[in-house]
Amino acid sequence: MRIPLIAGNWKMFKTKAEALAFAEELKVLYKGTDVQAAICAPFTNLEALVEAFRGTGVKVGAQNVHFAEEGAYTGEISAAMLEEIGVDFCIVGHSERRQYFAETDETVNKKLKKLFAGSIRPILCVGESLEQRDAGKAFDIVKEQLAADLGGIDAECVKKLVIAYEPIWAIGTGRTATPEQAEEMCAFIRSTLIAMYDEDTADEVIIQYGGSVKPANATEIMNMDEIDGALVGGASLKAEDFMEIIDF
Ligand code: PGA
Repeated sequence: MRIPLIAGNWKMFKTKAEALAFAEELKVLYKGTDVQAAICAPFTNLEALVEAFRGTGVKVGAQNVHFAEEGAYTGEISAAMLEEIGVDFCIVGHSERRQYFAETDETVNKKLKKLFAGSIRPILCVGESLEQRDAGKAFDIVKEQLAADLGGIDAECVKKLVIAYEPIWAIGTGRTATPEQAEEMCAFIRSTLIAMYDEDTADEVIIQYGGSVKPANATEIMNMDEIDGALVGGASLKAEDFMEIIDF
């Protein structure tokens, strides 16, 4: 049985003081449910959030990682550094990183391999642009991303993977994919994993939808059979909104 995962992606929002204020609010609201909650925060907040959420069941994630063990990579953070402070998840290949920071399927693949060598669970983001969807290429694009991003990664690792289907046209735009569109792609992702690996492996993978998820649409999205969770940007910045989504 897959436990639903609702993960917040704070992007470049919240100072440490703001992050801790959020944690205090969420701790009061979050009673521990059968839904796993996580917050993916800026690097500077991670250690404080791990401490603040200790014993609450709320997990903490990073939004990026470097693929090398260590080295002369000014400004970068390694998987070992994240592991040391108790980070549970790490977003990899978010479309904003692909678009603004030259993230490619090749670097995504290296990052996934690095994380799988340790204990942090990757949240791999895939999804098509509006142009690609309008051209009828959405499914081909996602299939290509999965093939390239997971190249050389074995089934045992993939069982720990979280995949977030995030159509680029729905991120931060207020334009959500319909529950049917999201469901269709999440089902397609699982059938692609069955073809790449096998049914048992594909069954273990948590497949989230992301893109303008908010309290008002969380229930209908989360009630779809093939959707195991959500990656939530804007609506994860307020503890009350985030909690409403967890409580879908
Ligand atoms: P959004 O962002 O919920 O603000 O659309 C989602 C994401 O980028 O992960």
